[in-house]
Amino acid sequence: MDKKITIAIDGFSSTGKSTLAKQLARQLGYVYVDTGAMYRAVTLYAMRNGFITEGAFDREGLIESLDNITLRFVYNPELELAEMFLNGENVEKQIRTLEVSKLVSYVAEVHEVRVKLVEQQKHMGDHKGVVMDGRDIGTVVFPDAELKIFMNSAPEVRAQRRFKELTGLGQVVTYDDVYKNVVERDHVDTHRKDSPLVKADDAIEMDNSNISKQEQLDKVLVLAKALIDG
Ligand code: DC
Repeated sequence: MDKKITIAIDGFSSTGKSTLAKQLARQLGYVYVDTGAMYRAVTLYAMRNGFITEGAFDREGLIESLDNITLRFVYNPELELAEMFLNGENVEKQIRTLEVSKLVSYVAEVHEVRVKLVEQQKHMGDHKGVVMDGRDIGTVVFPDAELKIFMNSAPEVRAQRRFKELTGLGQVVTYDDVYKNVVERDHVDTHRKDSPLVKADDAIEMDNSNISKQEQLDKVLVLAKALIDG
């Protein structure tokens, strides 16, 4: 039987991490885990319960409520993907809005939130055969991952990608708003105290401003297969 490895994909917002991770997982028959969905679901919970708005954040209130939050990925065979369930409710659509994107980096700065989610993420990798994407996968969640990719691309390219994605989902947003959000999230994610977004020393950096999704997938598949067969 082939050796199973762990693949960590980190990088800036809207660099296409999840697209690459999903394709890799499909090709290798691995489990894909979108850790951003977990931070987004906690943010949705915080919004719904009045702990966070654009002007205010009751961190203590959220921390005290963390035990009331249950997150689960449930596989949807029609979509061939796992969907995020927050306390038993499928919130896959609700967590992808710009409103959630605007607040998620502040929730992701909270140490107690990170401890809770990182613990769950580590368990999901117990048996390897996992492709996980996020901001701290190669540095904190799986520092021993066999393959680590760190993705980046120009902010304008990323904002354009995100803008297309959101309008494609029927959301009413402007390009300027999306661009501002991408830049702001980069800043908060790279400057937070707890597990800031940083390239792991042994991660392979990929800038995909000028290469196609297919070229990128092909490159990473070669790297992964060499490790699996080696
Ligand atoms: O991957 P995404 O854009 O859906 O992630 C949403 C936010 O969650 C991102 O701005 C920072 C945070 N995040 C994090 O801090 N650590 C992770 N492993 C994944 C996401």
